[in-house]
Amino acid sequence: MDTLVKLFPITCKKAIFFAIFLGFILTNPLKGAKTSASSSSDQHDFTYFKSITLLKNPNNMVLQNQTRTSKLKLFTSSDCSIWTKECSNEILKIAQKKEHVKWIKSVRRKIHEYPELAFEEYETSELVRQELEKMEIPYQFPLATTGIRAMIGSGQPPFVALRADMDALPIQEAVEWEHKSKIAGKMHACGHDAHVAMLIGAAKILKAREKNLKGTVILIFQPAEEAGNGAKRMIKNGALENVEAIFAVHVSHQHPTGVIGSRPGPLLAGCGFFRAVISGKTGQASNPHHSIDPVLAASAAVISLQSIVSRESNPLDSQVVSVTSFNAGDKFDVIPEAVTLSGTFRAFSSTNFYQLLRRIREVFTEQASVFRCSATVEFFEDKDTIYPPTVNDDRMYEHVKKVAGDLVGPTNFKVVPPMMGAEDFSFYSELIPAAFFYIGIRNETLGSYHTGHSPHFMIDEDVLPIGAATHAAIAERYLYEYGS
Ligand SMILES: *[C@@H]1O[C@H](CO)[C@@H](O)[C@H](O)[C@H]1NC(C)=O
Ligand SMILES: *[C@@H]1O[C@H](CO)[C@@H](O)[C@H](O)[C@H]1NC(C)=O
Repeated sequence: MDTLVKLFPITCKKAIFFAIFLGFILTNPLKGAKTSASSSSDQHDFTYFKSITLLKNPNNMVLQNQTRTSKLKLFTSSDCSIWTKECSNEILKIAQKKEHVKWIKSVRRKIHEYPELAFEEYETSELVRQELEKMEIPYQFPLATTGIRAMIGSGQPPFVALRADMDALPIQEAVEWEHKSKIAGKMHACGHDAHVAMLIGAAKILKAREKNLKGTVILIFQPAEEAGNGAKRMIKNGALENVEAIFAVHVSHQHPTGVIGSRPGPLLAGCGFFRAVISGKTGQASNPHHSIDPVLAASAAVISLQSIVSRESNPLDSQVVSVTSFNAGDKFDVIPEAVTLSGTFRAFSSTNFYQLLRRIREVFTEQASVFRCSATVEFFEDKDTIYPPTVNDDRMYEHVKKVAGDLVGPTNFKVVPPMMGAEDFSFYSELIPAAFFYIGIRNETLGSYHTGHSPHFMIDEDVLPIGAATHAAIAERYLYEYGS
């Protein structure tokens, strides 16, 4: 039961990659992108890191000096009090600096070698905090057991958040390379190691440009995206406090390295699971009138469920209800006591999603009662297996598109189709304007073309500085445009 429930969200996630796999393949060869450019977790028990280590840290000194020189040098062209393409170029330039690229790759490799599953991201979280401390970035910890909420900028509104997920998957890595997972049966097969590295990379860029920030950037490093709804717990622990908009990236094997993709409105489906038990009264099948037959009731329920999507929902509005298991007795001549059915449902808006949930419950209970049976339906809400749909705010989507256009060039930004997979970023996008976007990692030469959740999954690490720059530019420019 436990493992079953644990596996549910992974199944949802798998669907993302299946959908990406089946989806349209972007053929534009990216020339420009690279060159142009349970717990105690619910207590508010934070340690607040105080800024004391800056002067001890040679890296920071270097960055500080760089900022100063670049500010001087660029004073006539751009100090980014008016946003120009030059500001994007400056950000990209910092990201592409040799030492920055080397460092961000090394961070990603360390995380890749020691993958940790949902709510067990202790070492990963420790590594993130060490890097933040080296950069003198204050943070709150722990949120949701291993989560971190860091802060760069003026400390004043507006607050804009960037989010990375930290957990790995229970998969044995099949890629033979120098930094292969050292933990048997665990692997960063979904690129969350890259997400963390890109966000830390963005932190460094933003810290170097902190004086430009017309507000505050919140960095959210969250546990348990694959299983357990880490985002939900982060929110409960205050991750979104004061935050008015949020962004997150996911690597995609479908797009060439550095190509950015997103879409306005619904991007990923809401995902839920159900299990119904329809109970009757067992008896000899030869005298059915002495029993109450749950097989008949369950069969009628399965048929009725088909009409929810076909008759009750807008045909232009994609939804799914699938019954995937049907278990009853095992005798030829005995009507069983009960039937257990389970399945999944998907929708692209919260309204439709919760409407499906309500109707599934009704159909089971009402159909059971037509046949004199009783039904219980469970949706595992307390087991954190429900993911609402991920819906991009139109304005935030436009913001990502604009930033991406400047950074990697408009031809390297793609509008992607919606997918039936799920992502727990939806818990943030339910509450505040949000945009989720993809960044390509596909490189045929390297072999980084395997779908996420494959033991052969790998990324083109050249994506890391581009992702870091994208994050940083999204946040800095957001504050520039929405700040005072
Ligand atoms: C950075 O600047 C400080 C003070 O301006 C100076 O002492 C230090 O040597 C410089 N560091 C580098 C790496 O240039
Ligand atoms: C793929 O990776 C190789 C090796 O790093 C690199 O030379 C090449 O430019 C990359 N191709 C693309 C399309 O990014």
